[in-house]
Amino acid sequence: MTARIIDGKALAERVRGEIAARAAGLAARGEQPCLAVLLIGSDPASAVYVRNKVAGCEKAGIRSLRFDYPADAAPEVVMAKLAELNADPAVHGILVQLPLPLQFDEAAVLEAISVEKDVDGFHAENVGRLSQNQEAFIPCTPHGVMKMLESEHVPLSGAEAVVIGRSNIVGKPMAMLLTNAGATVTVCHSKTRDLAFHTRRADVLVAAVGKPRFVTGDLIKPGATVIDVGINRLPDGKLCGDVDFDSAAAVAGAITPVPGGVGPMTITMLLENTVISAERAARRKGL
Ligand code: GUN
Repeated sequence: MTARIIDGKALAERVRGEIAARAAGLAARGEQPCLAVLLIGSDPASAVYVRNKVAGCEKAGIRSLRFDYPADAAPEVVMAKLAELNADPAVHGILVQLPLPLQFDEAAVLEAISVEKDVDGFHAENVGRLSQNQEAFIPCTPHGVMKMLESEHVPLSGAEAVVIGRSNIVGKPMAMLLTNAGATVTVCHSKTRDLAFHTRRADVLVAAVGKPRFVTGDLIKPGATVIDVGINRLPDGKLCGDVDFDSAAAVAGAITPVPGGVGPMTITMLLENTVISAERAARRKGL
């Protein structure tokens, strides 16, 4: 193995320490940061993510409110809860865990969250602001990736960056952030004709495909920085990423592991967005 390991867990711990200090400062001024999390249905992966988000809040001194709904919940009930949380001055962040059961119109739910409390950055207005390089809540996973690239001093201006995956949650905002940072960005996906042609040119390669060990060493440019966003559970219960770590690490210059790479940074950025929202609320109140 030649690649340097990018330790997302260590970076996340450092950043969470700073977030906890900001949260404590806000609480001392009477504005304790508060995140409301809604989980609809019984998807086991979503349940784990929500549990980790709530636990992350607690450790950082952020209050959390959790609302669980059955898979057959009526959309009106969830919409009414969102309206209540939007109007509650003690709530600074609202997150609806995705995916939603089929009776929900996902875009309508995300747009029912107040833009000021949209700490996931999924509201169309925040997406638009990000695309225009204006201040916005940035989706947590790609934001976490940018923090990792920054902390590793990976040059982005003029770099060739390739993102595999075009989801609204990761691929598209990731491409936007890399573009805003001056990279030349290619987005590859399931319809891409010659994946290797693109990935072998990438100085920075971000894999967000959702397929275990999909990106093998032969797809990677020697010395590239490889960021693995995937979290896949193998039949034996172990976690693995979208990158085949062993073959990739023999070629790459730097690589994120799974677990311990991007995952811990995602929740960290959610906590940061919640604290930012609470700081804005405190400023509005003159605290
Ligand atoms: N489902 C998978 N990732 C995410 C995320 O970052 N936020 C929400 N709300 N749902 C998700």
